[in-house]
Amino acid sequence: MKTIRDIWVEFKDQFQKVSLSPESDFKWLVENVLEENHSFHWTLHSELILSPLKAEVLSTFCRRRAEGEPIAYILGEWDFYGRRFIVEPGVLIPRPETELIIEIAKKKFKDNHPQWILDFGSGSGCLALTLAYEFSTEKMIAIEKSPQAIPILEKNKKLHGLTDRLDVFASDVVDFHCTDLWGKIDLIVANPPYIDFLDQEIAQDVKKYEPKEALFSEERGFAAIHSWAVVAGKYLRPGGFYLFEFGKGQAQEVFDFVTSMGVFDKVEIEKDLNGIDRVAICKKSD
Ligand SMILES: C[S@@+](CC[C@H](N)C(=O)[O-])C[C@H]1O[C@@H](n2cnc3c(N)ncnc32)[C@H](O)[C@@H]1O
Repeated sequence: MKTIRDIWVEFKDQFQKVSLSPESDFKWLVENVLEENHSFHWTLHSELILSPLKAEVLSTFCRRRAEGEPIAYILGEWDFYGRRFIVEPGVLIPRPETELIIEIAKKKFKDNHPQWILDFGSGSGCLALTLAYEFSTEKMIAIEKSPQAIPILEKNKKLHGLTDRLDVFASDVVDFHCTDLWGKIDLIVANPPYIDFLDQEIAQDVKKYEPKEALFSEERGFAAIHSWAVVAGKYLRPGGFYLFEFGKGQAQEVFDFVTSMGVFDKVEIEKDLNGIDRVAICKKSD
């Protein structure tokens, strides 16, 4: 018979080696196994004797975490902008800094909701599906090339009951050809892969567990940033917005590139909560 504390004691040293927040990681796992919400504090119930099945599941989860596997893949779900998304190894784990795109979109379209939205490199669908909740949009299109990501995106579409409003296209962004939509889209969002293949700072667990095509891009991390901006320029209506995330240290080059395209008459860069330049706001010329 094992208590919650017994399992914590067994794994805590291993957690400390792989995580900056070992207690919080353990809390996530305990909550999931006990089907409790975030208000559950295991430390107040540390002597609770677990059923053999729950003890086994919690130990298995802990073993996976101790090997460095991200919590989101162990749980199979993660939160984005206050909503839950299915997350499996075929998709990037949604990041809090990406929520900035939603915040900016809400400000830019406060009075007039966008009627046509594209999401480039949709992954789990966290951006497209969140925008579908926030706006009374008529049609949204998610473009994603990874065959591993698409089934997860479809599952999230169903989970959120948004099958009618979101179309998924299995395509490379640069190969997406829908001439009927050229010059018609109000809002395009993207979190492109933007990490340089030679980047030495990337966390080992990210590199080991998350999909390479979601992380890395050629041309020192700029290939998708450049080519997707060109595609966005083609699909946006005059006055429409392209909002996209980029990495630390890329702001100047991003700004120079999008302003040099001659498509956007206003380009702004917004910082994330850590004060790092993170999202480009590109308004297509009227
Ligand atoms: C950084 S992830 C972003 C996923 C999701 N939008 C998010 O913010 O969590 C980039 C996504 O773009 C997809 N991707 C990469 N290159 C692509 C391309 N050329 N065309 C379409 N999708 C691409 C990857 O498979 C991945 O799902």
